Amino acid sequence: MTGAYQEAFDRSINDPEGFWGQAAEDITWIKRWDKVLDASNKPFYRWFTGAVVNTCYNAVDRHVEAGHGERLALIYDSPVTGNTIRKYTYAQLRDEVATFAGVLASLGVSKGDRVIIYMPMVPEAPIAMLACARIGAVHSVVFGGFAANELAVRINDAKPKVIVSASCGIETNKVIAYKPLLDGAIELAEHKPDHCVILQRPQGPCALTPGRDVDWAEAQAKVQPADCVPVAATDPLYILYTSGTTGEPKGVVRDNGGHLVALKWTMKNIYDIEPGEVFWAASDVGWVVGHSYIVYAPLFHGATTIIYEGKPVGTPDAGAFWRVIAQHGVKALFTAPTAFRAIKREDPNALLMKNYDLSRFKTLFLAGERTDPDTLQWAMDALDRPVIDHWWQTETGWAIAADCMGLEVLPVKPGSPTKPVPGWNVVVLDEGCREVPRGQIGSICVKLPLPPGSLPTLWNNDARYVKSYLTEFPGHYATADAGYMDEDGYVYIMARTDDVINVAGHRLSTGGMEEVLAKHPDVAECAVVGVHDDFKGQLPVGFIVLKMGVTKSNEQIVKEVVGMVRDQIGPVAAFKTATVVDRLPKTRSGKILRGTIQKIADNEPWKMPATIDDPAILDEITQALKSVGYASARKG
Ligand code: COA
Ligand code: AMP
Repeated sequence: MTGAYQEAFDRSINDPEGFWGQAAEDITWIKRWDKVLDASNKPFYRWFTGAVVNTCYNAVDRHVEAGHGERLALIYDSPVTGNTIRKYTYAQLRDEVATFAGVLASLGVSKGDRVIIYMPMVPEAPIAMLACARIGAVHSVVFGGFAANELAVRINDAKPKVIVSASCGIETNKVIAYKPLLDGAIELAEHKPDHCVILQRPQGPCALTPGRDVDWAEAQAKVQPADCVPVAATDPLYILYTSGTTGEPKGVVRDNGGHLVALKWTMKNIYDIEPGEVFWAASDVGWVVGHSYIVYAPLFHGATTIIYEGKPVGTPDAGAFWRVIAQHGVKALFTAPTAFRAIKREDPNALLMKNYDLSRFKTLFLAGERTDPDTLQWAMDALDRPVIDHWWQTETGWAIAADCMGLEVLPVKPGSPTKPVPGWNVVVLDEGCREVPRGQIGSICVKLPLPPGSLPTLWNNDARYVKSYLTEFPGHYATADAGYMDEDGYVYIMARTDDVINVAGHRLSTGGMEEVLAKHPDVAECAVVGVHDDFKGQLPVGFIVLKMGVTKSNEQIVKEVVGMVRDQIGPVAAFKTATVVDRLPKTRSGKILRGTIQKIADNEPWKMPATIDDPAILDEITQALKSVGYASARKG
């Protein structure tokens, strides 16, 4: 007998229009679609062409109009500001969003204009996002842990009319002034926004730039609320920049209609959440998890979401997550495995959990990086509840593989995020675009068309979209993850096939870091590789070759390059280790053997590459790695 999962999966692949057309009935449309799936301009597929909709209306207003105005929409929980708790009902959220939409409109923002949001984890961040959606503006949220230079790159690409920011963020007990970063970014950028709206926070107020900056609270007091503006289902809702192979981030575009349909569908089918229940994604609004599961999906579904300004440990202790779950009656938590490694490290026997009533808590979802079996086991033992690893990417916007808890619970296999979610026709291919046998590693791809909610293109760059994702395996989307499928169709994600690394669940480009190191005047050549770290999953390590005649000490140069990455990419890169070497291992054609360096660092078996220029260099690299605490190297 075919189970509910298989039935849904088969239908989504064999009859995508029927499947997603039915899911679309859960959305309030201003005008229904002409076509569910428009394949007239391959490889650019579009969902719900001809439809007119408003994302903010579906997230907020429609619940109020349906009589749920008093239901909690958003809970702000902030241990870093003296345990502030602020709650917004759907009616209150609608009013706040409509007023802020009025502020944006008063600053000249209208449909199609871009707004950058560079904010800490405060409720004003989702309010600003929803306000953009309300008036058809396209938001681009930039994670607060990125430095001015990264923000400048995004300003130049998105060309925002307005930037919304805050005077400061708070990292555990450090106040991080945002305004100097914002001013620095605008100074660096060629494109200048007309205005910045600044949320003044009492922990670190800032001076406003006359003529350009507007105070959030003062502006709110002066304007009329703005109504929802009809937009095409295919119009962009947001741009979210993510790391690629180079320092130039990719502007992932999300549309309005497909995003609404897919995300609404996931809340019941993947996460098993009913309207009115509390869902908590402990991430940051600057990441895709924050977009999809702190802000949009729970609100589309009429659930209650939590915006948590704190960490899993240190705010104040490793019981923080249990406290939030108990206090707000969380049914499902979604976070990155690294957060659980942090908790496990500080409270290995989960003793703090015993202080809290977790009776309403049903499921833990993990994503963002591979869940190591130890952490999975620890979480399952400590919680005595299902722990679901699921796999997705900024580009896809929602899970590609998961155990769909609301559809049919499949047995967990440690190390696997279970099976492809309905909509995702996952295949594992070899270099010739042929499917490899089950159990064999290859490039994990998705047969086109991608389901609704996935990226239709990159911002202003159709060519890069096609080149990055659709060219290597014609007719498929290349995920840039390598892995395999077992006999039962379970997916296993093993490694990235590009220069992207994953540090504490944060996606970063080693290529981007190399570009920074290469700017140091004494550096002739460099390589950055991601090495295994028990806590953060991976950490970047830099190798630098100096120019002839450099007189500064190696220690000084290492200190300078570490500072440069922090200043130019941001503290989130966690780039703290670099070492000076005489030369880098290369193939005869000059390609740096980063993969081999990484294997040596991680003590994995490695083979002497046949094309290596000079094998002795690998001994030098091994010594260099040992000097910074890695590698006890053995050859395979
Ligand atoms: N604004 C400013 N600085 C920030 C920041 C922000 N929003 N977020 C992080 N940083 C800084 C941190 O303060 C830290 O700076 P430091 O070098 O001065 O100490 C640096 O960036 C690295 O931050 P982070 O990677 O978060 O490491 P951490 O040691 O502070 O915390 C964890 C480690 C595991 C507790 C934390 O990364 C975490 O909770 N991660 C899991 C959840 C998550 O957000 N996943 C993302 C996608 S689901
Ligand atoms: P991001 O775009 O930041 O969400 O990062 C996406 C990348 O993180 C994927 O391409 C994977 O390499 C990795 N990733 C995300 N979730 C998982 C998971 N459950 N298992 C293994 N890797 C994951």
